[in-house]
Amino acid sequence: MSTIDETLLNEARKAQKNAYAPYSNFHVGAALVTDEGKIYSGCNVENTSYGLTICAERNAIFKMIADSGKHTISRILIIGDTDEFLPPCGACRQVIVEFSDENTVITMCNRSGQMKHHLMKEVLPFAFFLGN
Ligand code: THU
Repeated sequence: MSTIDETLLNEARKAQKNAYAPYSNFHVGAALVTDEGKIYSGCNVENTSYGLTICAERNAIFKMIADSGKHTISRILIIGDTDEFLPPCGACRQVIVEFSDENTVITMCNRSGQMKHHLMKEVLPFAFFLGN
């Protein structure tokens, strides 16, 4: 495991502990590193009006924007309490791709912290962008 992946895993696990998920009881953590080397983490935050729930990945990305504006995500790591390597949901893929380039890496983890790495363009091929 590279140093950056170890750091992202630790940060995602810290955030995962803060997940507010009383409805699904599924606690998710995410952590990303920007092109400038800054790290942001997030957890899922659920709501009694279920559709208002925000995923861990988007929480981390919106923190990045609020703190330092638009940046390219170099890597983003996701972890949940699963044996499988947890993939980002479809909505989060569309938000991740907004701040990705061709080298952006998605790291899916299982609960033991084992990792699978994929390029964003593999995770969301044929991504939608507004033509102009
Ligand atoms: N969740 C995430 O945080 N990220 C994903 O990519 C998948 C789903 C959260 C949303 C909800 O709080 C819980 O997991 C169950 O869907």
